[in-house]
Formats: sequence, structure tokens, C-alpha cells
Amino acid sequence: SNQLSLEQNKTLLKQLQEGDELLKKKKVNEALSVFEKIISSNPSSPSAIFGKAEALNQKSLQQRSNKILIESLKFYDQVINLPNCPKKLKKKAGLIKAERHIFLGQLKEAVITLKKMAETFPRDTDILNQLGVSYLYVGNTEKAQKVYAKVLSIDPDNGFAQVHFGFILKTAGDWIKGAYYLKLGIESMAEGTQEGKFYFHLGDALHRTNRSTEADEIYKLGAKNGLFKSKYQRSLYNVNRLQSHPFWTPAEAKVNNYVKTLESKWKMIRDEALNVMDVEKGLFISEEESLKDTGDWKQLTLYARGQPQKDCKRLPKTCALVSKMPNAHGCTRGQIKFSIMMPGTHVWPHTGPTNCRLRMHLGLVIPKTGQGAWLRCADQNRTWEEGKVLIFDDSFEHEVWQNAESFRLILIVDVWHPDITEHEKKTLSPI
Ligand code: LMR
Ligand code: MN
Repeated sequence: SNQLSLEQNKTLLKQLQEGDELLKKKKVNEALSVFEKIISSNPSSPSAIFGKAEALNQKSLQQRSNKILIESLKFYDQVINLPNCPKKLKKKAGLIKAERHIFLGQLKEAVITLKKMAETFPRDTDILNQLGVSYLYVGNTEKAQKVYAKVLSIDPDNGFAQVHFGFILKTAGDWIKGAYYLKLGIESMAEGTQEGKFYFHLGDALHRTNRSTEADEIYKLGAKNGLFKSKYQRSLYNVNRLQSHPFWTPAEAKVNNYVKTLESKWKMIRDEALNVMDVEKGLFISEEESLKDTGDWKQLTLYARGQPQKDCKRLPKTCALVSKMPNAHGCTRGQIKFSIMMPGTHVWPHTGPTNCRLRMHLGLVIPKTGQGAWLRCADQNRTWEEGKVLIFDDSFEHEVWQNAESFRLILIVDVWHPDITEHEKKTLSPI
């Protein structure tokens, strides 16, 4: 029979305990042989197979080996599929397996694992919450939203579900409901709720719904909790040591040469852009990050993430010029683009994603000064001048108004922050 005698059971328990002790002490190879020994005499012991999976998982971390990690996943899977697996262990194995898939970038596999877990545990909010996360990773926002709605129907006070539900609603444009759930979730202080992106979007949603005083409080709290560098500097992909302030001189930014070149060639750049506007208006694309409140704002991108874009060759002179600026065209955390803004445009206050770049604006067609087109960065307003470069750090909150009588055209050139090292330039993940 499958039943173990009392004696056999005692031995098994002792061996399992021994394996667990070794795991705690990070003696992975010894733990592995203990669990393998148990498995050889009890091939369907859920705890032993789980122990083996855990040992391999730990070993993969010690040796930084994805091969061993993938090996461990087979055993988590075995645990999940054992008919005699205790529910608690099954849940644990499923959650770890899914998390490890995400770590490996195997996002679809994470979804599959969690979907299967949710079939066994249809009202388990831990599993449903992670299923939602995995749906977000694969870009299936609709399914994620449904999952979080379900969690909230089971447990209306689930903070993790609240922040995610709010995040989904907010980014879909429902600022009022988005703010409502984001706020509840953040205030719950539950695990997984104290993240920069939730504070970021809550503040934005509050600001856009006439609650800027509350937005300001959230930004201050985010800064106090270390999620933002300051209430104004809310980029989320940062190198911490970088010196930061809103506006920069060319000397501070170490771009004297670039500025000289851009300012001496500005008419050529302007004429090339105006020509494209005349003959191929369609190359200018509407801003699509939902940063715009009102109006008409279009961009033509030459470089993004350090890569020339397909339309770069339509402006050969400008492209040749910037191709001699490695800290600009090679800035994998920035872009080079023309930006045209029509009268009647307001861009919501927003912050860029990273503090690793500085943003140059070369004025090309600027409505006469003092007539309603300006940029606010942190607590200072500036305007543009034709043929002149303005430099700011767009990781600080900035906002644009275009209420002049005619259009405004600039060239935006992002450059590496001067404190970024050559090694970082090569290794930072592109944004
Ligand atoms: C921004 O970088 O958000 C704006 O300054 C862009 C623009 O065209 O003014
Ligand atoms: Mn911006």
C-alpha cells in the first residue's frame, strides 16, 4: 500500500527537517542530496520534491545560473501536479514558480502557471493578485482589470488589488476612479503598495481632477518615503549620485561644443524642418503619452534610445549634425526630436522617466516673447529664443503653455547627464 508505517513516517519527517535545516544554512548541495535521497525511496513525497526545487532555486541564485533555475522550475511544477499535494504547499510552489518565470522574463509561462493556480484556488486573493500582475506584464490590461475587480469583490479592502485596479483605471484615462482606488491602496500600507509608480499616478490623477493640493501632499510623501528624489523630481529610473537641479547652463552640462554647433546652424535646422512640414506633414506624429491637456502638439523623432529612427534620413543635414554628437545620439535614455506646438496647447505637469539625461531645446520658430508660450520646470518659468539653446532636467516636473498667436517649433536634443560614466553609458538599460 501507499501508506507509510509510523516508523517510516518518523524517519521521513526527520530527513525532511534535516533538508530544511541545510537549506536555511544555505548549504544547498548537502540539502539537495538529502532531498534526492528521500525522493529515491518516496518518489511522490510533495515536501521532498518541493525541497529539491527550493535547493535548486537557491543554488541558481548562488551560482547565478539560469540553467539551474529552469531545472528547479520542473520540480515546482511536479509539486503542483501531485494529486496528494497539500493545498498550502501547492499554493506556495505555484507562487514561487510564477515569480521565477517573471524573473526569467518568461511572462507567458507565469500567466499560464497562475491561471492554473486560480482554477484550483478561484477565490484566493494572493493568487489572483499575482495573476493580475502577470497579465499586466504581458500587456493584457483588460484581463488584469477583471482579476482585480474580482479580488475587490471578494475583499474590498485588499490594498494590493486597490493600487493595481486604480493604476489600470488611471492609465486608461479614468482619473477620478483611478485616484479613488490608488489612494485607498496606498493608504492601506499593504505589501506591494508603496511603489513610486502608484504615488506618481495618484498625484497626476489628483492634479488633473482639480485636487492639486492633495497631489502636492502625495508628492511630498513620496519624497519623504524615498520613492522620489524630491517632490518635484519624480523620475523612477535613476542613478542616485547624480547632481540635479531644474535648469542648466551649457558649461554645467558640459555641452559647450554641442550648443555652439546647434546655435550656429540653427537656421539650417529650422529650414530643413519647415521644408518637411510643408511637403510631408504626416511625419509629425501627435504626442500619445496622454501628457496633453488641450491643443495640438506633434513630434518628429530622429533618434530614440540611441537608435536612428526611420525618418532621420528625411532631414539629412540635421541628422548629419547630431550624428557628430555622441553624448546626444548615443544617449540610450533619451531622444532627439522636433516638437511643434500650436496655440491653445497646455501640457499637464509631468516628469520624464530618468535623471540620467538633460534636455536641450533649440528654439527654431518662436512666437514673439512675452506673448504666451512658456515652460515651467519645478518652480521656474522660462521661454525660448530663436537660435538659442535652453537646457533643463526633465526628471523635474515641467509643464508647457502655448497661448501665443502662432506655432512654436523647437529641436529637442537629450544628452547624457555630465556625471554619467562611460561604463554607465554602455550598460544602463535603454529607456
Ligand atoms: C517636454 O519636454 O515635455 C516639452 O518641453 C516638450 C515641448 O515641446 O515643449
Ligand atoms: Mn516632457
